[in-house]
Amino acid sequence: MPEPLKTGDDAAFLRIGDREVKLPILVGSEGETAVDISRLRSETGFITLDEGYVNTGSVTSAITFLDGEEGVLRYRGYRIDVLAANCDFIEVSYLLIYGELPNAAQNDAFRSAIRMHTMLHEDLKLFYNGFPRDAHPMAILSSVINAMSTFYQDSLNPHDPEQVEVSIHRLLAKLPTIAAYSYKKSIGQPLIYPQNNLEYCENFLRMMFAVPSEPFESDPDFVTALNLLLIVHADHEQNCSTSTVRMVGSSDANLFASISAGICALWGPLHGGANEAVVNMLERIIEDGLNVKKYVDMAKDKNNNFRLMGFGHRVYKNYDPRATIIKAACDKLLAKLQLQDPLFEVAQQLEKVATSDPYFVERKLYPNVDFYSGVIYRAIGIPVQMFTVLFAMGRLPGWIAHWKEMQDSSTKRICRPRQVYTGSPIRDFVPIAQRR
Ligand code: ACO
Repeated sequence: MPEPLKTGDDAAFLRIGDREVKLPILVGSEGETAVDISRLRSETGFITLDEGYVNTGSVTSAITFLDGEEGVLRYRGYRIDVLAANCDFIEVSYLLIYGELPNAAQNDAFRSAIRMHTMLHEDLKLFYNGFPRDAHPMAILSSVINAMSTFYQDSLNPHDPEQVEVSIHRLLAKLPTIAAYSYKKSIGQPLIYPQNNLEYCENFLRMMFAVPSEPFESDPDFVTALNLLLIVHADHEQNCSTSTVRMVGSSDANLFASISAGICALWGPLHGGANEAVVNMLERIIEDGLNVKKYVDMAKDKNNNFRLMGFGHRVYKNYDPRATIIKAACDKLLAKLQLQDPLFEVAQQLEKVATSDPYFVERKLYPNVDFYSGVIYRAIGIPVQMFTVLFAMGRLPGWIAHWKEMQDSSTKRICRPRQVYTGSPIRDFVPIAQRR
């Protein structure tokens, strides 16, 4: 549970007409400061307006710390690069959800609990027959995750810790099976059932790429790379999809419904969908004669709505530390596989041209987590349409951790922003016969 915020020695003063309002200043555990406006409306009648929540802290949270100016990212106080180098994804999931790294017994118990739930209800599989074969797997993922609330009606109560616990295990266990099956369905291959003696990532790769008629063994380098990618995607504090999960969960909607909504938010190309958009953009640049500068110029042109996908971030005004880790992993994996991916070459050229261009320098636009992740997914053999699904698999423990933190909070309230109305003032009703 988050520590209560300290009230700082200073206060902010807001003058409205001839009134002066004193607003407390709150201080977080890393010294970040916030002006507390929670009593502003009741005391003054005014609200604040902040489109896109650029300046708005919606919660206090003890899960993830990031400093966008310095390029710092920590889960529960641990540096992201240290976790990526020393843990697997399940260990990091435990850390995010329960607040501490698991000891050996907790680690075993958590893994066993997840393993017990990897299969899908056979009737749930029937849903897949209803989707068109070329359906986007993110649409399938959010639909099937939401449908879990129809199959597990015994565990929908957000206020019952045991029900929440089993839903957490079910979600972590089934999401890879659901994801892999959406791919198998799209290519007309049979569902590969999970094999519970395998670890999480190995099991997923098997469900993606094995066929019943052939033996299959995952490449250990792919398993390592996938673990790393899932870890660096696992949480990122109040991003669009996590805020969505909190927003939906704030009405006491069940965990499956809340996560399903988060998946939809992640799908958009300005958020998790950027990884797919990056690869499409890099392929377009190659097909268009490798003219990197042309695309950088297009991104700068205010009359053109083209943006460099995988570049820029709401919070990072420095190199995204996740991009640093992923780029190094790309280098390592491609060297080991003796692969030369033209996309990686173009991506590096693009980064070089953009990061030395005054437009990008002045706006502090750097590669974000999505810029190089697609290169690794491609090397592993993951099809482009599945990239954002992999992001969702990685982000799942973060969503769960935030949903749980909110439900456990004694100060939880339904999320309900206000607005400044700009529509018509009151007017007289006109019967249809008299309308022009
Ligand atoms: N290419 C070109 N210009 C850009 C880019 C870009 N990728 N990103 C931002 N800018 C420019 C904007 O045009 C704006 O310029 P201006 O000041 O002249 O108007 C300025 O930089 C600030 O950009 P905003 O859009 O105001 O920044 P915001 O914080 O609202 O958006 C976002 C952040 C959505 C990530 C944006 O940088 C973007 O669209 N990037 C491309 C999509 C992408 O990679 N998304 C993934 C983000 S990471 C994630 O969600 C997992």
